[in-house]
Amino acid sequence: MEIKKVGVIGCGLMGSGIAEVAARAGYGVVVREVNDDLLQKGLARIQKSLSTAAAKAKITPDEAAQAWARIQGTLSLAGFADCDLVVEAAVENMALKKALFAELDGILPPHAILASNTSSLCVTEMASVTRRGDQVLGIHFFNPVPVMPLIEFVRTILTSDETMATARQFGASLNKTMVTAKDTPGFIVNRLLIPYLLDAVRVYDEGLATREDIDTAIKLGLNHPMGPLTLLDFVGVDTTLFIADAMFEEYKDPRYAAPPLLRRMVLAGQVGRKCGKGFYDYR
Ligand code: CAA
Ligand code: NAD
Repeated sequence: MEIKKVGVIGCGLMGSGIAEVAARAGYGVVVREVNDDLLQKGLARIQKSLSTAAAKAKITPDEAAQAWARIQGTLSLAGFADCDLVVEAAVENMALKKALFAELDGILPPHAILASNTSSLCVTEMASVTRRGDQVLGIHFFNPVPVMPLIEFVRTILTSDETMATARQFGASLNKTMVTAKDTPGFIVNRLLIPYLLDAVRVYDEGLATREDIDTAIKLGLNHPMGPLTLLDFVGVDTTLFIADAMFEEYKDPRYAAPPLLRRMVLAGQVGRKCGKGFYDYR
């Protein structure tokens, strides 16, 4: 099956990156948000990222303009009726994702593949509300999408070989390296990353060291590009909490239990870099 048009649900941190890399690879892209304010913010993020890539000579100004022209923003799902692949990148919430999968199943052409960029949730459960379980999988990108070279595919017991082959062609066309995991909470990367991030919050909250020293220790002691509290702000404190809750719900393992501070930061609206404040102040 040849993919020509890609639909993206959500134009937040991840949806905007996915729309950008798909457009840069030559696909027609339609990206949907819930209101015009969020749509314009997401589209502006894509435009800025394309301009930066052109300014750094990663792409020519002409390629940036062509990619931009391939992207159509929308508030409805009507423009998704001729998509060959949809990547859902809405908030990490199962009820929302299932409602979207059920609605999209009724709109998309029969051949289309439905994918979720979920970090942790059960892809089989999303497939269960569609009549195309064999054409559903997880396509898990990493933040920032234009920079991070990995895609993690999540294959359920329903996903067909043909769907996997088409998804691999798509991943290759984006120049990503691909790995495949079973449909288990957190897959490969977040299974290992989330306990580490939660432990960083626990040691910070217990006063082991300042946030700066925790981050500096990991950055320079382990050569990580970012310390864990900076990475938490980058991923989103809210998104990390939703992922931890989903993983704890399935594994009932205290390693995935969200520390009280994480939940309180989300309640206080301190969700990280995207809102200007998380563990650090970006305002
Ligand atoms: N969009 C596009 N390009 C970006 C970007 C963005 N949002 N942010 C940075 N870049 C580019 C820069 O333009 C720069 O390009 P050049 O090297 O060609 O100049 C390059 O990335 C490096 O950026 P900077 O020099 O500004 O800063 P840096 O060296 O600190 O790198 C970083 C920034 C790539 C984000 C790096 O800090 C990093 O790799 N951090 C860790 C990111 C990470 O772990 N991501 C995974 C999170 S977990 C996840 O995604 C899964 C999940 O489900 C939660
Ligand atoms: P985000 O909060 O930045 O963006 C989510 C966007 O989805 C919001 O702008 C929201 O308005 C929109 N949305 C909500 N309901 C919608 C609907 N019905 N239709 C269209 N848009 C809708 O979150 P994010 O970081 O982009 O995460 C999105 C998904 O990607 C989550 O499932 C998350 O777990 C996953 N993910 C996140 C990261 C990360 O580092 N943040 C990395 C990989 C995967």
